[in-house]
Amino acid sequence: MRIAVYPGSFDPATNGHLDIIKRSAKLVDKLIVGVLKNNAKEPLFSIDERVALLKKLTKDMDNVEIDSFSGLLVDFLKKKNATIIVRGFRAVSDFEYELQIAQTNYSLDNNIETICLITRVEYSFLSASIVKEVAMYGGDISKMVPQETANYLNKKYKGSKS
Ligand code: PNS
Repeated sequence: MRIAVYPGSFDPATNGHLDIIKRSAKLVDKLIVGVLKNNAKEPLFSIDERVALLKKLTKDMDNVEIDSFSGLLVDFLKKKNATIIVRGFRAVSDFEYELQIAQTNYSLDNNIETICLITRVEYSFLSASIVKEVAMYGGDISKMVPQETANYLNKKYKGSKS
């Protein structure tokens, strides 16, 4: 059984993340979306909120499971019997960051392969940080995130517009 993990902060999940989930789920028997708990960046959404949102967004995808993890990614993969890491690759600016993550994970466990899916061009400018900034100032995020994510963001920022 080919099991892959798609790790990230998912703070919150965007259309770009969802696209990578759908496409990578077709390549493997099981895809586990691993939501990082102990993030150095202070997340807007709690771990429970990020996991609950991803569960809603993937409820019709049979071979996709949502889970959270803390500590090393390679240890999470071992726990889940997974051997593949999936990452989305948007532009050249992602290269150094993705290379560093992939090489670090490879040096920690050389049985693990990282596959990077090239983001669809319509999502190539998208990031969770950009989405949060646009949402915070009341901009239109309808093309950037699924409706469920927009609902979560609207709830968070309701009353905080200035
Ligand atoms: O969405 P992000 O923040 O770019 O995802 C980064 C992530 C979760 C892939 C990375 O920070 C990670 O795997 N963290 C867990 C700790 C770890 O294993 N570090 C060594 C490899 S970078």
